[in-house]
Amino acid sequence: MTYDDAIKALSNDALKLVKNHQTIGLGSGRAATAFVKSLSLFVKKNKFSIKCIPTSLQIKLEAEKGKLHLIDTVLDKIDIVFDGADQIDKGKNLIKGGGGALLRENILINAAKKVVIMADDSKFVTNFNRDVPVEVHHLARNTVAKHISKIGGRSRIRTLDRGYPFITENGNIILDCNFGVIKKPKLLQEKIKKISGVLEVGIFTRKPDIIYKARSTGKFDVIK
Ligand code: A5P
Repeated sequence: MTYDDAIKALSNDALKLVKNHQTIGLGSGRAATAFVKSLSLFVKKNKFSIKCIPTSLQIKLEAEKGKLHLIDTVLDKIDIVFDGADQIDKGKNLIKGGGGALLRENILINAAKKVVIMADDSKFVTNFNRDVPVEVHHLARNTVAKHISKIGGRSRIRTLDRGYPFITENGNIILDCNFGVIKKPKLLQEKIKKISGVLEVGIFTRKPDIIYKARSTGKFDVIK
């Protein structure tokens, strides 16, 4: 049994939260992909009529494969969002943006009535201790980097394997910012958000309603 088995099992369990006629936000990444696969089979089997809003092209392609009904329009209402996370701290704050989809993920998470996060147990920490992804307009890359260092961080531009800068779906770059151990995530989020040229910060402080924790044994816990 592996984490993948646990993610698959919890994705199936999470389907009980899906109701007919809902509008569902789809996060990005591996956990969200596993959920989309389960959701596609479930919708087909139960002949549900649901609408899905993707947070990235990556998950949009997965949802298309599963023949889910996608809408990509002005947000009206989102009943529930299913997403993964890069880290979850003791206060249920999240670090997101490992895949670069943080801007749309944050919009959906903050618009949703209910948020469900799915992650393996290695991502649960007392205090955040990994880089914070920050989406930045490329024109401001140096000025933002200077501000990040003034507030105690070190930043580097995210690059692809061959050295090209990673460009988000919104045409921006990502600065991965190291602040060591983060004891006051909300304060740090606010400080970074204020920097001119910053479009989104990968510290999310909207608390999830339900968190699924996958274990390497193939089992999972549900945290409410
Ligand atoms: C995408 O930008 C991220 O926020 C993902 O949700 C996060 O990286 C978790 O992805 P995995 O489920 O692939 O670990």
